[in-house]
Amino acid sequence: MCLFLLVTAAALFTSCQSTKGGNYTMNTGGKKGILVVSFGTSFPETRKATIEACEKVIDAAFPDHEVRRAFTSHIVIDVIKKKEGVTIYKPEEALQQMYKDGFSEVIVQPLHIIPGEEFHEKIVKNVQAFHGAFEVLRIGDPILSTNEDYAMAVEAMHEQMPDLGPDEAVVFMGHGTHHPANAAYAALQYRLAMEGVPAYVGTVEGYPELEEVLTLLKRDNISKVTLMPFMVVAGDHASNDMAGDEPDSWKSILIEEGFDVSVYLHGLGENKAIQDIYVQHVKKALEVQEKHEHGHDH
Ligand code: CO
Repeated sequence: MCLFLLVTAAALFTSCQSTKGGNYTMNTGGKKGILVVSFGTSFPETRKATIEACEKVIDAAFPDHEVRRAFTSHIVIDVIKKKEGVTIYKPEEALQQMYKDGFSEVIVQPLHIIPGEEFHEKIVKNVQAFHGAFEVLRIGDPILSTNEDYAMAVEAMHEQMPDLGPDEAVVFMGHGTHHPANAAYAALQYRLAMEGVPAYVGTVEGYPELEEVLTLLKRDNISKVTLMPFMVVAGDHASNDMAGDEPDSWKSILIEEGFDVSVYLHGLGENKAIQDIYVQHVKKALEVQEKHEHGHDH
């Protein structure tokens, strides 16, 4: 909640303080755009199925807005440039181009799952640098931001889960981070437990880890597990750390621990209910903008 308020405050700051500061002459005229920002992936197939699918759904939901793309991963951008000869913008480059192209209203919608480092360092900071350039410049929330978002996320997770017997469960692999927003994963686990959804959340690079998940699986007498990535794209972590045949993959460890394991290798970006959360978040960003325009004082 705090993070959300901070972001809201930051975004309002960029959209109201039009007259002073900044190196920009403000664009006016009402040309509207949505910049969809994701981490990116260098694998064309999954990029199409996940990131592009989300962009298309957003595009269809907001016909008055032109949808553009940016990636936050510089490594992914470099690999795509080398392998495919395609240039994908970083958020700051995309905003620069949108400024040049005369946009006056821009909603920046991340496909990121938590408001972590990627979100704050590569999206919020860069958006703030465009202070005074656009009449409206707002940031939509990542998937796990407000309490309502958690409820929507749990529903979306439930929708992609198979029907399960009493000794079966799904284990979701999230990314995880050293950033304080890592707490989102444990918060999500709490939520799943409250709703009675037989799903467990672990992370590759944060807390909880597979070890904690194993403890819960054993405590709850689960013997059959389906592994699913809790990431927008089923990329390297999903294919190798989760579902790989190496002895240290989650699949191998779970099998070693005596579980019956199956794998679902599809990123959350393919999930229609997750796609809809992005649409809801763009809508919310637009509504805050309207509320703002129709008067509050500061
Ligand atoms: Co990683």
